Amino acid sequence: AVANKEYDVAVIGGGPGGYVAAIKAAQLGLNTVCIESRGKLGGTCLNVGCIPSKSLLNTTHMYHVAKNDFPKLGLKASDISYDLDALMKNKDKVVTGLTGGIEMLFKKNKVTYVKGKGRITAPSSLNVDLIDGGSEAIKAKHIIIATGSEPSPFPGLKVDQEKIIDSTGALALKTVPKKMVVIGGGVIGLELGSVWRRLGSEVTVVEFADAIGAGMDSAIAKSFQRSLTSQGIKFMTSTKVVGVDQSSGAQSVIVEPKAGGAQTKIEADVVLVSIGRRPYTDGLGLKEVGVALDDKGRVQVNDQFQTNVPGIYAIGDVIDGPMLAHKAEEEGVACVENIAGKHGHVNYEAIPSVVYTHPEVAQVGKTEEQLKAEGVAFRVGDFPFMANSRARANNDAVGNVKVLADAKTDRILGIHIIGPNAGELIAEAVLAVEYQASSEDVARTCHAHPTLSEALKEACMAAYDKPIHM
Ligand code: FAD
Ligand code: NAI
Repeated sequence: AVANKEYDVAVIGGGPGGYVAAIKAAQLGLNTVCIESRGKLGGTCLNVGCIPSKSLLNTTHMYHVAKNDFPKLGLKASDISYDLDALMKNKDKVVTGLTGGIEMLFKKNKVTYVKGKGRITAPSSLNVDLIDGGSEAIKAKHIIIATGSEPSPFPGLKVDQEKIIDSTGALALKTVPKKMVVIGGGVIGLELGSVWRRLGSEVTVVEFADAIGAGMDSAIAKSFQRSLTSQGIKFMTSTKVVGVDQSSGAQSVIVEPKAGGAQTKIEADVVLVSIGRRPYTDGLGLKEVGVALDDKGRVQVNDQFQTNVPGIYAIGDVIDGPMLAHKAEEEGVACVENIAGKHGHVNYEAIPSVVYTHPEVAQVGKTEEQLKAEGVAFRVGDFPFMANSRARANNDAVGNVKVLADAKTDRILGIHIIGPNAGELIAEAVLAVEYQASSEDVARTCHAHPTLSEALKEACMAAYDKPIHM
């Protein structure tokens, strides 16, 4: 190989895991290349995930507030409506700006960016089918697989991104469907279901499990469902989607109770399939080089992110753990720190997760159900936003903060927030868990008034003693 095509590190995939790993590797003085087949950096998250969904959630929330809450607040605005095309263009502009920004960061940090599909041909060799045609051979001492994930298909249902859509289609519909059925009441179903509900669709979410929210604390999940129901989303929990009948030209979603029983049909203009995501390793050459996968098709790694093949590593959605952008980023940093001879580490006990609906739902650590199952004795501190002055001043006081602390040591084991700005508030909770704080530690920390963060302080007061404002 030619000298300039030999690298210390080659990262396959330019998503939050891969691009962060590449930048960090370059910052640590490693000669680094990042290979991305999409034509744009940022992966699922920036292009068809976190960012476009948050843009649509934000604009549709503003629309909802203007239309429904302005009169209650004494604000007058007439003829509030929207232009879907312009709303989508704004979203696209946000995405383009951010993906372009990563390209600049690559230049700044001297990461080589190769546009094409990478395939591992030997432990330190890659071949890239370039987007612009032709191919390029790359040699690298260390190869990091960061190829991410893709939507899990619903057996027998073909996604056409118009009538039957996955999350990518749901971020780019050209008209507002009159009726939308969402298969799966997890994060994607609830976020994107909210977007289209706010724009006027009749949304029905069908969820196989007994509760929505894919494993969130069950008391929080219950109030979450109540809140979304009051916004007009219909829910069918403990219900299985059996299939979709398209024989009449329309979409007829066939459902049956989880416990068995009579099948019924729900008519829909558009069906959103959001039943989870699966690791993406197509055409990577893993079988040929002998990289082991687990039973779910994820690349198997140890706590140093090493696969069974020396010199090949994996991070992000393609390995075990929550499929979250920040989890992928932490792993990217830790992985290259280990490669550079440092001591990279990810604390999986302190990874937050957030649902960006309104109210938002955010959590870190254990749920009440998990602690019960583990036989851990705990105390609960609960504080409602109704008793928080800032939430009241903002006319946005639905929800509560729930703190779970060890009954003996008072160490915080889990914090669950449903309410305004929960996604920002959770950062303090993550810090508390990371530093193994007690609920008393947080309760005795001065919080600015009037802020939503005082609700977390008071929930901590409730966990170890008594709150003041309740
Ligand atoms: P990805 O982001 O999937 O990136 C992998 C990249 O690798 C892709 O760009 C792909 O094109 C490329 N690739 C694959 N194979 C090859 C190959 N052989 N050669 C070259 N390139 C290749 N997470 C959050 O934390 N917060 C959110 O708000 C959030 N919202 C989401 C909303 C939606 C609608 C979706 C779908 C996901 C959301 N996620 C969110 C999840 C988040 O997008 C993922 O967890 C994150 O993108 C994973 O990062 P990654 O780097 O592991 O993989
Ligand atoms: P999910 O795992 O969150 O939820 C899928 C839901 O579908 C589960 O509740 C499951 O019980 C249900 N389900 C599965 N099969 C079903 C069937 N046949 N009928 C009815 N229900 C069925 O997966 P989702 O929502 O597709 O999202 C994928 C991943 O993307 C998330 O797990 C998350 O990691 C990531 N994501 C994160 C976001 C965030 O952090 N805000 C936003 C969007 C996605």
